Amino acid sequence: SMMREISGINETEEKLKKALGLEDVVVVPGNSDEEPWVKSELGRACAYRIKAVLMGNNIIAVTGGSTMAAVADALTPDFSAPEQLLFVPARGGIGEDVQNQANTICAKMAERTGGKHRVLYVPDQVSPEVYKSVVNEPSIKEVLTLIKQAEIVLHGIGEAITMAKRRKTGKEEMEKIIQGHAVGEAFGYYFNEQGEVVHKVQTIGLQLEDLPYILHVFAVAGGASKAKAIKAYMNSKPKSTVLITDEGAAKNILACS
Ligand code: G3H
Repeated sequence: SMMREISGINETEEKLKKALGLEDVVVVPGNSDEEPWVKSELGRACAYRIKAVLMGNNIIAVTGGSTMAAVADALTPDFSAPEQLLFVPARGGIGEDVQNQANTICAKMAERTGGKHRVLYVPDQVSPEVYKSVVNEPSIKEVLTLIKQAEIVLHGIGEAITMAKRRKTGKEEMEKIIQGHAVGEAFGYYFNEQGEVVHKVQTIGLQLEDLPYILHVFAVAGGASKAKAIKAYMNSKPKSTVLITDEGAAKNILACS
């Protein structure tokens, strides 16, 4: 639109695409670190994009976090076939507060759109023995199958140490995250600046290696403080990921590119 051209947002999007090697980037005005309404704008931008790619039966796998919660808040009951929407948590509980958990967010997304949802209740960390029995539990098996069939994945990106603290990560793992110079986090994986995985929360559900098989992946993350985290994650070269971010993050990423 005219407004976006005048404000230079289109130009920022173009520069950001080049800097991060992405095909598609959306930048909303503002900095969500400073103004809370910007996070709502990220949510709205994501909701808009979801509608644009929906077709027929759709399984949407969703991670946790406050940005994903903002996406849920931005969804409206105007989908053409809401009964065909199915929201599934992307990964087993990874230590968030209830309002930021994928289960809660999926329930809200279903409620707001008129779609359906599934829950995935598994512990934070699973030992190999528990893993083996848990994945054969029919209710869990069903959700895991649905996740693999998802056409759309929505996920946040977090600053590594912030996320590790928020999840009350144990001492040993915290050491691993710090020693590995992790700066970014997405769906339980911690990345260094080069985009290498230095630690991963051992839980069931969507794994990094599943992403290339997902048709539409939307990473939603904003705020100047997340610039390094976003850059690190994008350095892992996630295939066909669309980044939805804000000016605060974008300007910071471009300043250090
Ligand atoms: O995995 C990434 C984090 O969930 C991001 O959380 O949206 O609350 O910053 P946030």
